[in-house]
Amino acid sequence: MAVTLEQARAMDSADPLRAYRERFALPEGIIYLDGNSLGALPRSTPEHLGALISREWGDSLIGGWNKHGWIDAPQRVGARIAALIGAKPHEVLVADSTSVNLFKLLVAAAKLSDRKTLLSESGNFHTDLHIAAGVADLTGLTLDIAPRAEVERRIGRDTNLLLLTHVHYKSAEKFDMAAVTARAKAAGATTVWDLSHSAGAVPLDLNKAGAELAVGCGYKYLNGGPGAPAFLYVAEGLQERLGNPLQGWMGHAEPFAFTDDYRPAEGISRFLTGTPPVLGIAALEGGLDTFEGVTMERLWRKSITLFDVFHACMERHCPELACITPRAPEQRGSHISFRHEHAYELCQALIEKGVIGDFRAPDVLRFGLTPLYLGFEEVVRAVDILAEILRSESWREPRFAVRLKVT
Ligand SMILES: Cc1ncc(COP(=O)(O)O)c(C=O)c1O
Repeated sequence: MAVTLEQARAMDSADPLRAYRERFALPEGIIYLDGNSLGALPRSTPEHLGALISREWGDSLIGGWNKHGWIDAPQRVGARIAALIGAKPHEVLVADSTSVNLFKLLVAAAKLSDRKTLLSESGNFHTDLHIAAGVADLTGLTLDIAPRAEVERRIGRDTNLLLLTHVHYKSAEKFDMAAVTARAKAAGATTVWDLSHSAGAVPLDLNKAGAELAVGCGYKYLNGGPGAPAFLYVAEGLQERLGNPLQGWMGHAEPFAFTDDYRPAEGISRFLTGTPPVLGIAALEGGLDTFEGVTMERLWRKSITLFDVFHACMERHCPELACITPRAPEQRGSHISFRHEHAYELCQALIEKGVIGDFRAPDVLRFGLTPLYLGFEEVVRAVDILAEILRSESWREPRFAVRLKVT
């Protein structure tokens, strides 16, 4: 449904989620389509962090660990993420980065069986493949990287671990978590899901899907800020069977007993390693506050409409860009991507005009649809601006070809 600016404004006025935008401090004149990469700043975060720094750290000093419950922040905030992804409160923990959590869970799970293959998808987010290669090296597994269409068929009698990203970072294609997990389980393999582009973006029910292990980012749809700590999920029934390969004092049953030997804490806490990043977790908690009072189903319904409007406007006004994201909502996540030979230059030209998306090498222009703060008028205006950049060929100006470190 390609809509006019006027129609888009009417859709915004009628949008029951419109008020949620006020929970974010978005700069004037910017159309932010990159919340799938770095979520926008929640309005409450500066004050929340400021208070923690001056009143908790400043006044309580080291006493803050007990007095303000800093020591329990990984579990407490993990429980809040659990509510968004269909897990039990004690199945999710905030810790480390997604890459590090992936390492911990893959090594831990590899020991559950003596099978020899770690299976993943070619074109998976590269950190996942790098971590998988390192884990394979360390544990004596063979890495099998299969094309997406073949992954499920490749699950076999020797598959120990299956590592998949639920929503693909480029195309937004989504695996059927329940079906794939069941298939892997039936074959005797353990699946680890990367939920970086799913958590806070699409409705998830990890328990219902039978998910065993998962990791995900805190800085994307969860709005936790640049470099926010990540999370990991371990299904209740597996927790006591897995050991954290990065066993540190915070994952010990009694960190303050200061014993030489390592005894893992009960439950999810054993997946901690070092001291929790209290400030980072507090910012993540502020990000999670922005979801208060709204269900993932409600957000997803708006995401579907944002997608439809975006897609139709692009087809009408920018047909030279080929959409690589499936149209069917059940087959995708909450971003939309297009292929173009000069995607990098187009992305830079858009940013100069105040439309922030991102570029994924070699030729993908990607836009995040974040229903908490994105409106329909912004989508229509973004496409109009892109159409004008294409028509005028302003993207050909040499400054747009200068490669930045972060794209
Ligand atoms: C699918 C996926 N996994 C992992 C990561 C990286 O996570 P981290 O930097 O927390 O290790 C990203 C970052 O964009 C990602 O898209």
